[in-house]
Amino acid sequence: LNKFSGKNIAKAAQILKKGGLVAIPTETVYGLAADARNSRAVAKIYAAKQRPSFNPLIIHFAVKEQLSKYIYELPPLFYELYEAFCPGPLTFILPKSAAFPDLVTAGNNTMGVRFPNHSLTRKLIEICQFPLAAPSANLFGKVSPTQASHVSEQLGSEINYLLDGGPCKVGIESTIIDLSADKPIILRLGGIPLEAIENIVGPAPLAVKTSSSNPQAPGMLSGHYAPEIKLLYGNLIENLKLINPVKTGSVSFCKKISGIPEVNQRVLSPKGNLTEAASNLFKSLRSFDPQKIELIVAEKFPEEGLGRAINDRLKRAALG
Ligand code: TXA
Ligand code: MG
Repeated sequence: LNKFSGKNIAKAAQILKKGGLVAIPTETVYGLAADARNSRAVAKIYAAKQRPSFNPLIIHFAVKEQLSKYIYELPPLFYELYEAFCPGPLTFILPKSAAFPDLVTAGNNTMGVRFPNHSLTRKLIEICQFPLAAPSANLFGKVSPTQASHVSEQLGSEINYLLDGGPCKVGIESTIIDLSADKPIILRLGGIPLEAIENIVGPAPLAVKTSSSNPQAPGMLSGHYAPEIKLLYGNLIENLKLINPVKTGSVSFCKKISGIPEVNQRVLSPKGNLTEAASNLFKSLRSFDPQKIELIVAEKFPEEGLGRAINDRLKRAALG
C-alpha cells in the first residue's frame, strides 16, 4: 500500500473540503469520492477513472435527514425501502436537487442516492457535512475494487488519500432502483437481492439492457467489469470441450471443476452460500491477472438471491 493510505478520517475530510479525491471504503466496493457540490472536484473523478464519457455518479449520504436538506419531497416507497435496507447496498434514483452540479448527474434530471454501510465512511460524511459523489474506485471498464490494495494498484497516483476500511463485506455493487417515475424499475442488480426488494415494492421490472454504444441508459453498459483475461460464461461442461484446460482458469459456485489445474480454480463458496460467493467474485477475477492463463471459464450461478447479481456481472465480464 502507498503511504497515502490509513484510517485518518480527519485528514480525509480536510482533503475533501479542499476539493481533493479520497478513496472510501463501503460495504459493496471502494468508491472514488469528491465533494458532490463541487464541480471541479467531481471533474477530477472522471479524469482519474479515464471514463470516455460522462456517466452519472452516485451521491453518498450518512442518513436520510441529510438528504432532506436537498430534496424536500421524497416518494413514500423511499421511506419503506430506507427502513428496510439502509444503510446498505441500495441506490435510489430520485429527482435531482439543484444543489449538485450537472456533472454529477451527467445532465440527467435525476440523481443516484445511497447510504453506505461502513462506519469509517459514515463518520467521514458526518464530519464533512456534505455528501460525497463516488463511482467505484477502478479504471473505466475494469473490475471493481473490494480491498484497499486494489485501489492503490489502479489509482494510487490519482488520489490524495486512501481511507483503508479493510475488505468490503458485500463485495458487489449496490442494487439500483429508479423511484423517479410512476412505477419502480430496477436499473442494476446488486447487493440487495431482487426478492427482498419485491417483498416491499411488489413486482419491479428490470430495465432493458442497452448496447455498449448507448451509454444513455446509465448503468447499463454491456461490456463492463472486464478482467484482463478473456472470459467465457455459461455452460461449463460445454465450454470445457472447446478449450485447453491447462491454460484455463475457472470460476465456479461450490464445486471444483475436473480437468482444470487446482491453482487455476476459484470456487467462490465451497459451502454453497451465494452471499459468500458474491463477496469473493471480484477478488477472484482479479487474482487471475498475474497468472499464465489464456482464458477464464465461469459457470452460471443459481438465479436467486445474490446469484442474480453474480450472473449479471459475469455476463458483462464476458462481453468486455
Ligand atoms: O455500490 C455502489 O453502488 C458503488 C459504491 C462505491 O457506492 N458505486 C458504484 O458506482 O458502483 P459506479 O459509478 O461504478 O456505478 C454507478 C451506477 C452507474 O452505472 C450509473 O450509470 C448509475 O449508477 N447511476 C448513477 N446516477 C444515476 C442516475 N441519475 N440515473 C441512472 N443511473 C444512475
Ligand atoms: Mg463501476
